[in-house]
Amino acid sequence: MRVLSGIQPTGRPHWGNYFGAIRQYIDLQGEQASYYFIANLHALTTVRDSKLLARYTLDAAIDLLALGLDPTQATLFVQSAVPEVSELCWLLLTGAPMGLLERCHAYKDKKAKGLPADAGLFTYPVLMAADILAYDSDTVPVGDDQIQHIEVCRDLASSFNHHFGQVFVMPKAKILDASAKVPGTDGEKMSKSYNNTLEIFEDPKAQRKKIMRITTDSRPMEEPKDPLGDHLFQLYSLVATTDEREAMAALYRRGGFGYGEVKKALADAAERYFSEARTRRAELAAQPDRIHHILADGAARARQQAGQVLARAKKACGLI
Ligand code: TYM
Repeated sequence: MRVLSGIQPTGRPHWGNYFGAIRQYIDLQGEQASYYFIANLHALTTVRDSKLLARYTLDAAIDLLALGLDPTQATLFVQSAVPEVSELCWLLLTGAPMGLLERCHAYKDKKAKGLPADAGLFTYPVLMAADILAYDSDTVPVGDDQIQHIEVCRDLASSFNHHFGQVFVMPKAKILDASAKVPGTDGEKMSKSYNNTLEIFEDPKAQRKKIMRITTDSRPMEEPKDPLGDHLFQLYSLVATTDEREAMAALYRRGGFGYGEVKKALADAAERYFSEARTRRAELAAQPDRIHHILADGAARARQQAGQVLARAKKACGLI
């Protein structure tokens, strides 16, 4: 398996990022090849403050390492350190149908709201396709909000291959059923743009307060409830042990409990779940040189691979 995925440095990572994607990165890092990158070129479409973007980028590297990404097993790098990908993006842009990009949800949603969109947002899925194809990746671990983009990548790759010969490997999304769409504190999909996130490295006290404010339904406490479909239970399931989850499910079905109890149990389990990573993060944050070294080493390896694919693609389309 050749694995690739990326995360945008647009703020602090949240549970959706971890349980939908990052956890898979760690599980798959021992595969034949695995490439994980911080998508700062994509983030530039929204973060327009240079200092902030640089800080978020370094922070994202520290976060991934603290969560268990091992640079001796996986290649970790920053997207902009591999210019080959931007060049490959141009080759793909020349054959990308406008209609295909017009249907992509990030652009479509912005237009539907009457907000001004730029060419960066419009062509965002093509850069993502270049990211994936540049490493001959066959497996892309993501949450379900990225499925459409991977379909676009497959469309672009197959039309390029059809036109110029077999150049690109066809990738597939890899989704975890249990956490393809992690809910936020309001029950909608957890997302930075909905302001409903639980951050991985949030101060535990601040997080506890947020958890106590999670919206719940107003059914009486005595009434038995179905745990499935309840976002509070879903969040608890992510950080609780199997025994704890089953005990909680039984409590829901029996009734006669308060949501306050569940929230308290959720805050306790969350603090415990991420406590080791929190300690590792503090250690890594104190070693910026080490982080820069890991990223430079990763970029060199990534460039080597992307350079080969780019050369293959250029030759196929007559760029001599
Ligand atoms: P980004 O930064 O928005 O999200 C990073 C990863 O987190 C997943 N995710 C979720 N999964 C489950 N439930 C949620 N509530 C949730 N919120 C976020 C996302 O699905 C994603 O896997 N376009 C990408 C970055 C990117 C990329 C790529 C990914 C650029 N090039 C190439 C894969 C391959 C993005 O914005 O992810």
